[in-house]
Amino acid sequence: MSKENRTLYGGLAALGRELAKEAWADARYTIVVDENTFNCCLPTLIGRIEVLQEAEFIEVPVGEECKSLEVAAQVWQTLLEGGADRQTVIVNLGGGAVCDLGGFVAAGYKRGIRHINIPTTLLAMTDAAIGGKTGIDFGGVKNSIGHFYPAALTVIEPRFLDTLPEAELLNGTVEMVKTAAVADPELYMRLLEAPTVRPTGRQDIVAVGRIKNRVVKADPYDHGIRKILNFGHTFGHAIEVYRQLPHGIAVGIGMRVAMYLSVKKLGLGEEVYRTYSQWLRQQLSTFNFQLSTFNLKDIEQMLPLMHQDKKNADGELRCVLLQEPGAAVIDVTVSDNEVRDAFLHLK
Ligand SMILES: NC(=O)c1ccc[n+]([C@@H]2O[C@H](COP(=O)([O-])OP(=O)(O)OC[C@H]3O[C@@H](n4cnc5c(N)ncnc54)[C@H](O)[C@@H]3O)[C@@H](O)[C@H]2O)c1
Ligand SMILES: [Zn+2]
Repeated sequence: MSKENRTLYGGLAALGRELAKEAWADARYTIVVDENTFNCCLPTLIGRIEVLQEAEFIEVPVGEECKSLEVAAQVWQTLLEGGADRQTVIVNLGGGAVCDLGGFVAAGYKRGIRHINIPTTLLAMTDAAIGGKTGIDFGGVKNSIGHFYPAALTVIEPRFLDTLPEAELLNGTVEMVKTAAVADPELYMRLLEAPTVRPTGRQDIVAVGRIKNRVVKADPYDHGIRKILNFGHTFGHAIEVYRQLPHGIAVGIGMRVAMYLSVKKLGLGEEVYRTYSQWLRQQLSTFNFQLSTFNLKDIEQMLPLMHQDKKNADGELRCVLLQEPGAAVIDVTVSDNEVRDAFLHLK
């Protein structure tokens, strides 16, 4: 990867200190926001960081809609018209969508300018804004065009979560549990014991961010160990598309399938599966979601979606499974019959 990626866990205070340094002396800032972060987060940011008071800002559509070539082109156009040069720094203030788009724009503009991620969702703080993947959706395929292009800085400021809707918090919590499940058994248990999604503390956010940074450092281009972060996703993506569920909820159910297969194939303790299932049921009920059940017809329709998954080779499903919390195994071959069995057991 071409540039350094540093995560500042000290929030906006740490960012203020950083931007006062020589390395940023001639920077000119353009802040990318969506409507929600414009309203909920931008006033706090510019209120706290003096050098950003003169920044330009560009508003993009909310959510996945901003991750398009058209929106990227509009941002490039605005940068050009505003005379942005190689000293320009893009500041992404938003969730994973804004960070993915803004990083993509930065990677392409004048052969690459610096960008800073200031994630404002739990998912972006612990996952999307860390690790250097940028991208847009193209040709109807999510994240099909993009670069490995790390942010110069990622700044973790949990106060931005105060305005985040609870359903968005759940998305982030599920992914935090996923990261802990494959890498840190103690953190995993602590997260499962937290009473609701709201009290997620700075300590847990930092712990998960550190795991992600560690895994990415070991495998920046996603050829090996980084795949552990896809735990539950082969099944989750299929459920997300088939049942039109939010990503986090679908991945939560996908992890349950993966845990069941882990019990059968890798000897994961049954109590781990049971504890996880109970936690998931409780989380989903808070949001009036039922733990979906699937019949054979549903499963037949989802199997092709799983086979499309980029992690598969030779027509076989290759999944991440768990030997025990903290010990994930990548590229485990799973047959269609094993998948049918696992889904039918989601009762
Ligand atoms: N690059 C990566 O490694 C990586 C990893 C995981 C996910 N992603 C991507 O991240 C995206 C999902 O990110 P997300 O879950 O953060 O969703 P998101 O960016 O769509 O944000 C979710 C919603 O929350 C709103 N919002 C954001 N911050 C807010 C705040 N502080 N207060 C109130 N509202 C706020 C947004 O406007 C939006 O409506 C997907 O596009 C996914 O592909 C990327
Ligand atoms: Zn995910």
